[in-house]
Amino acid sequence: MRKKVIAGNWKMNMLPNEAISMITELTPMVKDTENEVILCVPYTDLFYALLTAQDTNIKIGAQNMHFEEKGAYTGEVSGKMLKSIGVEYVIIGHSERRQYFAETDETVNKKIKAAFANELKPIVCVGESLEQKEAGKTAEVITNQTKLALEGLTNEQVQNTIIAYEPIWAIGTGKTATSEDANNSIICIRNKIAEIYGNEVAQNVIIQYGGSVKSSNAKELFETSDIDGGLIGGASLKAEEFAKIVNYNK
Ligand code: PGA
Repeated sequence: MRKKVIAGNWKMNMLPNEAISMITELTPMVKDTENEVILCVPYTDLFYALLTAQDTNIKIGAQNMHFEEKGAYTGEVSGKMLKSIGVEYVIIGHSERRQYFAETDETVNKKIKAAFANELKPIVCVGESLEQKEAGKTAEVITNQTKLALEGLTNEQVQNTIIAYEPIWAIGTGKTATSEDANNSIICIRNKIAEIYGNEVAQNVIIQYGGSVKSSNAKELFETSDIDGGLIGGASLKAEEFAKIVNYNK
């Protein structure tokens, strides 16, 4: 049985004092869940978030990293740097990074390898645009992104990669994919992984859904056969709302 993994993506929100308050408020609300709870926070919050979440079941992640370990890359943060302060997870290839910051399938692949080299667990985002969806290309786009992202990884690394299927048209728009469509897209991704890495690996990979997940739709989405939790943007900024999503099965 795969575990449900509920990860918040705060994007460019929350100052350190807000991060500390949110995590302090969230801690008792999610302490009894059997689901995995992760918050991916801005770089400037990481240290505070790690200290506040110490000795709790809340894990902390970053939202991006560079693939090189160090060097002349002004403004970048490496996997080694994240690991050095105790970060466990890192989002890689979010559509906002692909769209606004020139992230490509190639850099996504390099970053995933660098994440594993530094013992960080990557949460890798794939998803189609509205145009691609309307052209009937969803399956082709998401399976191709998955294949390129995972290229050259060992079976064990693939099993330890979290994939977040996030249709771009559903992110921050209030439009959610129907649970049936989201589940079918995730089955497509899982089948592609089975084709390349074998069925056992594919059955063990956590594949989340992301895109306007909130407490009112989490249960329906997460109770499908193949959706293993969610990557939550807007609804992860408030402790109470995020806790309801984490506790969707209570
Ligand atoms: P949203 O964002 O929940 O605000 O739609 C999800 C994401 O971008 O990860």
